[in-house]
Amino acid sequence: MLQSSKKLQLNEADRNGMRAAGKFNAQLMDYIRPFVVAGITTGEIDQLIHDYTLKFRHIPATLGYLGYTKSCCTSVNEVICHGIPGDYRLKNGDIINVDITSIVDGWHGDQSETFLIGEVSDEARAVTQCAFDCLYHAIDSISPGCPVSNIGDAVCETAHARGFSVVREYVGHGLGKRFHQYPNIPHFPDRKSKTERLLPGLCFTIEPMINAGSRFTNPDKEDQWTVRTKDGRLSAQFEHTILMTETGPEILTLTKNGPQKGHQF
Ligand code: MF3
Ligand code: CO
Ligand code: CO
Repeated sequence: MLQSSKKLQLNEADRNGMRAAGKFNAQLMDYIRPFVVAGITTGEIDQLIHDYTLKFRHIPATLGYLGYTKSCCTSVNEVICHGIPGDYRLKNGDIINVDITSIVDGWHGDQSETFLIGEVSDEARAVTQCAFDCLYHAIDSISPGCPVSNIGDAVCETAHARGFSVVREYVGHGLGKRFHQYPNIPHFPDRKSKTERLLPGLCFTIEPMINAGSRFTNPDKEDQWTVRTKDGRLSAQFEHTILMTETGPEILTLTKNGPQKGHQF
């Protein structure tokens, strides 16, 4: 039986709240992009994101979230997600995912991009391209009322065809007035996602994490946040916030200057 949660179907006023949050978050991604180059530290990136958000009187959603103390996540090379900004200085050949979430008038916009720093290895470029293509293949595969598992089917098809793996422990999520809410959006087709539907008015993220080697994860025991690949190989991710409308998915976090659908890295 396909299930759904009626109360998460946003009305037009609420949808406009989410649209504004997504738009600001994308504007912030466009702002930070030119700074993400060799020589900057991840802590400096975080400070720029923090200051820009406050300048517009919005709120960095991660700041103070479950004890997290930064305004974004910066996940370099073998870090899959939730890398904590700090003293690490980007260097030629790195890949880095910058994940930004803003709260605008109570609504959340959440997105991430992986950046190539200077000249990167063929594998780094390929895994980044794969994560990007997985995101857009997933968006292309959903329609009003479809099962959530369409997303996992699309991501796995693209990743496995290229010999890459899909992280299972961290998933996309519903969002709205809350950062993480129903439903879970796994990037592989699990049993539950086959029973749940993407009804018009639902907002959620798609954020596939693609590993060059095995899918297995290794959460940092000391800082409790940083998640690395178990085998130490590279991982890449892209994320958009999506509103399902009556006529199809609407990407709320589209940037002006970032990679667009079909981009080749
Ligand atoms: N932005 C991440 C996501 O896409 C969540 C980061 S939570 C943090 O869901 F606390 F680690 F920042
Ligand atoms: Co998210
Ligand atoms: Co995010």
